[in-house]
Amino acid sequence: SWAPERAAEVIAAHVSLDGATLPILHALQHTFGYVPTDAVPMIAEALNLSRAEVHGVLTFYHDFRREPAGRHVVRLCRAEACQAVGAVAVANHAKARLGIDWHGTTDDGRFTLEPVFCLGLCACGPAALIDGEPVAGLDPAALDLCLEACA
Ligand code: FES
Repeated sequence: SWAPERAAEVIAAHVSLDGATLPILHALQHTFGYVPTDAVPMIAEALNLSRAEVHGVLTFYHDFRREPAGRHVVRLCRAEACQAVGAVAVANHAKARLGIDWHGTTDDGRFTLEPVFCLGLCACGPAALIDGEPVAGLDPAALDLCLEACA
């Protein structure tokens, strides 16, 4: 969980890199699972940037989470080959069923929904990663089964 002292260590470990903002954000996300808002002024100070500049980088890249993820992270492929075989229907079903949009987390903290762009499973799409496990050949019913299997 979030600890400013730990964040300060992570920032200090990367501060001398060229273009340190991205490596620091990645390292913070790796450490905490997201990039807490409170880290933004710390990064700005360490790199001599404005808070707005750091915030701009943080919000530009959708890979960065700004809140803790749900217990289960569902990443649905949105790339072309999967789209051609029904990924949009699977995504719309996931959003409706979970009541969230991309990058959202359900109120009960159970699921986070994220897009990915190609998992190398194009031949058997629509594909997804559910808690890091690849799943192929999804349709709305198959996705329901996967979600129900998640505690
Ligand atoms: Fe979805 Fe490649 S396009 S896995």
